[in-house]
Amino acid sequence: MLCVVGTRPNFMKTMPVVAELKRRADRFEPVLVHTGQHYDANMSEIFLRELGGFTPKHMLGVGSGTHSEQTARVMERIEPILAREQPDVVLVPGDVNSTLAAALASAQLGLRVGHVEAGLRSFDRTMPEELNRVLTDQVSDLLFTHSPEARANLLVEGRPESAIHHVGNTMIDALAALRERIEAVEPRSRGLDPGEYLVVTLHRPSLVDGALLAEAVAELEALSDRLVIFFPVHPRTRARLERLGVDSNAERFRLVDPIGYTEFLGLVRAAAGVLTDSGGIQEETTYLGVPCFTLRSTTERPITVSEGTNVLLGLAPERIAEIPALLDSRPHRSEPPPLWDGRAAVRLVDVLARE
Ligand code: UD1
Repeated sequence: MLCVVGTRPNFMKTMPVVAELKRRADRFEPVLVHTGQHYDANMSEIFLRELGGFTPKHMLGVGSGTHSEQTARVMERIEPILAREQPDVVLVPGDVNSTLAAALASAQLGLRVGHVEAGLRSFDRTMPEELNRVLTDQVSDLLFTHSPEARANLLVEGRPESAIHHVGNTMIDALAALRERIEAVEPRSRGLDPGEYLVVTLHRPSLVDGALLAEAVAELEALSDRLVIFFPVHPRTRARLERLGVDSNAERFRLVDPIGYTEFLGLVRAAAGVLTDSGGIQEETTYLGVPCFTLRSTTERPITVSEGTNVLLGLAPERIAEIPALLDSRPHRSEPPPLWDGRAAVRLVDVLARE
């Protein structure tokens, strides 16, 4: 089983599967490939270490670039590895450039592809991730889904029913496995009082590459009168903020470097809420029962709105001002969606064992 990872959100989706494959060593041999789309220690290494300590056998070192450059580099560099390893299945997670590139290169060689987190759709094809999702699902033979609407989306696009396997959310497996350590995180070690702060993550080009970022920063500065702002800054966003001359280590408005998995989720768990444009964090907050405000006009994860804690604010920084009122008015719910139970990787590997 050749498991491909490339970016920060890939690690939590794939490592529980690698761990389960290793547990069944009589039957499976996982080979981990890291494309190197993310390469800073705090965007990559720290997650590998925390999520099982598995070492990639192959590092492709593709680094940053345009979408086409990144995709092409992964395809070129993974092709000889695929030819050499001859895996029975190539597993790719999520929707990043590394996902599509590895899936396409594998399909071109006639290898079977399994897509972890298949069938999610924002229906916004201006998002690079949406193109990656649609195309990856088209070339995948095994479509592992984690929420009910994914099946319908895949059937509409002509994917066969027999390829779809509703196994649940492997990213939640990672969280469930580390739950004790996550609960042991002490916000005060970062100078934060439980329930008194907002965790912020923003990194999507549609938000941070244009004028909206400055608007969001101004709104957050205003909101910091009510809630302490704790903002671990993605490198893409850091570069944009530097250009705007924004940096802050003020007690109530704190920009910090990206932090590791356990600490991040520990701080999210004890926060008043989260403001984000991430995909995965919409799911993690739903699982943890923490209010989430998503600064995007669409979500490929509607179950986090219908059954979870997520509120779609739109691509509208002025709505950040509504967060205190929304926090006061929203009822809290805590039941995670079906099959977000810490056992998705077991069900996924059961499918691989049958195939
Ligand atoms: C990528 C994914 C996005 C995902 C995000 C999670 C695609 C199309 N986008 O976006 O879906 O939500 O990862 O983080 O695949 N950089 C560093 N160090 C790193 C990595 C990146 O400094 O380790 C900087 C570089 O300046 C780079 C920029 O961040 O140009 C963006 O990185 P890139 O991988 O192109 O896209 P992300 O915005 O991270």
